[in-house]
Amino acid sequence: MDFFNYKNQQLFAEDVAVANIAEEFNTPCYIYSRSAIEQNWQAFDKAAGQHPHLVCYAVKANSNLGVLNVMARMGSGFDIVSGGELARVIEAGGDPAKVVFSGVGKTEAEIEYALEAGILCFNVESQPELDRINKVAAELDKKAPISIRVNPDVDAKTHPYISTGLKANKFGIERERALEVYQYAASLSHLDVQGIDCHIGSQLTDVQPFIDALDKVLLLIDELKAVGIEVKHLDVGGGLGVTYNDEIPPSVDEYVAALLSRLTDRPALKLIFEPGRSIMANAGILVTKVEFIKQGEEKNFAIIDAAMNDLIRPSLYEAWQNIVPIDQSIERDAAIYDIVGPICETGDFLGKDRNLKIAAGDLLAVRSSGAYGFTMASNYNSRCRAAEIMVDGKSTHLVRAREQLTDLWKGETVLPA
Ligand code: LLP
Repeated sequence: MDFFNYKNQQLFAEDVAVANIAEEFNTPCYIYSRSAIEQNWQAFDKAAGQHPHLVCYAVKANSNLGVLNVMARMGSGFDIVSGGELARVIEAGGDPAKVVFSGVGKTEAEIEYALEAGILCFNVESQPELDRINKVAAELDKKAPISIRVNPDVDAKTHPYISTGLKANKFGIERERALEVYQYAASLSHLDVQGIDCHIGSQLTDVQPFIDALDKVLLLIDELKAVGIEVKHLDVGGGLGVTYNDEIPPSVDEYVAALLSRLTDRPALKLIFEPGRSIMANAGILVTKVEFIKQGEEKNFAIIDAAMNDLIRPSLYEAWQNIVPIDQSIERDAAIYDIVGPICETGDFLGKDRNLKIAAGDLLAVRSSGAYGFTMASNYNSRCRAAEIMVDGKSTHLVRAREQLTDLWKGETVLPA
């Protein structure tokens, strides 16, 4: 169920009219639905049922404290990729003991911070990283819990920029070398081998690549056991796709059931999920106002007050996201528009060739913007980043204030006179 629906032709976020939110907080703004977040998170938790598991929400998809806090309250774990994300999780009330730390370039300072905080596991992506974690752990007189991220060489059949499980990608350790690297890890005095990890890409709309990767990893788990290395958990990463347009990804139930069907003879192997997009994408919209309609010779442009600095997915991946009017009751002639921002780049568009009945001053919603929206926003063209609002039933909460002009140069100084 979606929590952004039309009532009397007006778009609502849960029980609040989006137009009212825009009036109170101005545009552009992101609006998230608490119920959507909870429902999407619980889908994973319920689908895993009695099988031991932990849902570690991938913080990179949306790291707003309000969002993290909603999940922390449900007992969520978190998948982080930086010290900054760990700080956010802790600030939002998340439990560090349920945090897994992914990413190819963890610094010594980040490793130290994570060890002091007592995270659940480091997902290690290279042999030099094993050495680094071992060294930092030794200095702190601790044993670092680790998993090795195995690159299964499976084609996720998604956009090349978000495909991570191929040999040509920078992520993980090749399947062929994994055994030897595990044995090396087990030989290091300050590491504690806990698990195995695998993430093959994002926005997957087919269950088969997940299963192919899982089968390869399960084989490796058996090989490890044969040499005396027993892993307690299997982290299957994230990557489940969502519907932006006409994609039909597997449901969470189908996806989890397919994984569990391979684990019937391993009832004690704890599953860790790292979903990001599938929890957040359709739990958020970006609301923007049409500033001008510009009729070009070849094209009509709707120039809006949001831009690629607010939502870069269309520019970066040619991603398609639905753009809809907030008020469906207005009757006007329809025309085909490119929906563009004010930034000085031809690549600054949120949608192309959209059939809309719009005029200057209208409000539009860019659907499915809750994941990789605000977290990828920048201040390019010295634009203040948007406000973020969380709706909870009839209530609205400003979970991030719109940036002010002085925020733009925070930390900067001019040279002395
Ligand atoms: N775990 C790891 C190790 C990851 O690298 C990622 C995403 C996830 C989990 C979460 O994947 P998800 O469930 O969200 O697919 N900015 C791109 C997506 C980049 C994904 C990066 N890694 C986009 O806007 O499409």
